[in-house]
Amino acid sequence: MEMDERKEEEKKMRVLIIGGCGYIGRKLVMASLALNYQTYILYRPQNASSLYKSQMLMEFKIMGALLLQGSFDDHESLVSALRQVDVVVCSVAGDQILQQLKLIQAIKEAGNIKRYIPSEFGMDPDRMPHAIPPGNQIFIDKCVIRRTIEEANIPFTYVSANCFAGIFLAGLAQLATFMPPTNHVTIYGNGDKKCIWVAEEDVAMYTMMAVDDHRAENKVLYVRPPANFLTQMEVVNIWEKLLGKVLDKTILSPQDWLSKMDKYPLFEQIAVAHLYQIYYCGDLDFEPEKPYGLDTNDLYPEYKYVSVEEYLRRFI
Ligand SMILES: NC(=O)c1ccc[n+]([C@@H]2O[C@H](COP(=O)([O-])OP(=O)(O)OC[C@H]3O[C@@H](n4cnc5c(N)ncnc54)[C@H](OP(=O)(O)O)[C@@H]3O)[C@@H](O)[C@H]2O)c1
Repeated sequence: MEMDERKEEEKKMRVLIIGGCGYIGRKLVMASLALNYQTYILYRPQNASSLYKSQMLMEFKIMGALLLQGSFDDHESLVSALRQVDVVVCSVAGDQILQQLKLIQAIKEAGNIKRYIPSEFGMDPDRMPHAIPPGNQIFIDKCVIRRTIEEANIPFTYVSANCFAGIFLAGLAQLATFMPPTNHVTIYGNGDKKCIWVAEEDVAMYTMMAVDDHRAENKVLYVRPPANFLTQMEVVNIWEKLLGKVLDKTILSPQDWLSKMDKYPLFEQIAVAHLYQIYYCGDLDFEPEKPYGLDTNDLYPEYKYVSVEEYLRRFI
């Protein structure tokens, strides 16, 4: 390696991703590699017994990622992984949020981490004290992690990513539906609450741009592609235009929506509660409070994000 190349390698931001085989985690890995960071993935020993995850890890390795074995239950493995990097991005699942208390202990011991992005990527938990159960638990847990990070004086960025397109937009916000309906759609209330729909690859790119951006240190970063502030009805209308067909619509009152809750398993009850917050209460319709709250469009106005129409066109 030439001297210049070696210097370039040394300058690269070193990022550890925890949960890299997960739904948003794999997009974070791809974004980190695309930005040419030195990308480390912490993989759990049990991933070796998942064909799907093992293959994914190998593909990431071929693309240039470095694999480190470890887990939350092995403190030494966490400290050792953390000492090799500058930044840690965690994307553990919603029911594993409090596991990050162990990670925070390890970050304190390692003492070298310049930025920690905890597993959030959803609604801002500090804005959700009114959330209904069982959807509220994840906000409570994420707030516990925020307060623990702040008490430990660990530099952070909290990423509030609004609605993942694959989960919300692809199915026009229908419960457990991830392809756009072609005949019938349920509309929540008047379908008139503003929502923010974001492609997962964009959530990941904004996050990874922010890890190396001093403006995002100790801030909440709201992912807000400006053309994607749309109501459910506006999204349905975009899809109808692409489809060349008007869908049958059922208008559902909040009472009718919540009365269905008991019929579903717990993970879908959580989804029912979150859909209630977004589409009936309009909880995503607010302006970030500056200077603590940052808008991705102010930080990265040149970034070319996926618009709602472009995303839905993928299904035509
Ligand atoms: N805004 C939105 O629309 C939206 C939608 C969904 C999720 N989210 C948020 O995004 C974050 C990540 O969610 P996700 O859906 O991407 O998660 P996920 O795919 O369900 O899981 C992510 C990773 O968590 C790790 N994990 C699972 N069980 C674990 C355990 N027992 N111990 C340690 N690690 C464990 C696994 O990592 P490895 O297998 O790699 O070890 C897994 O791949 C959460 O904070 C969630 O609330 C936001």
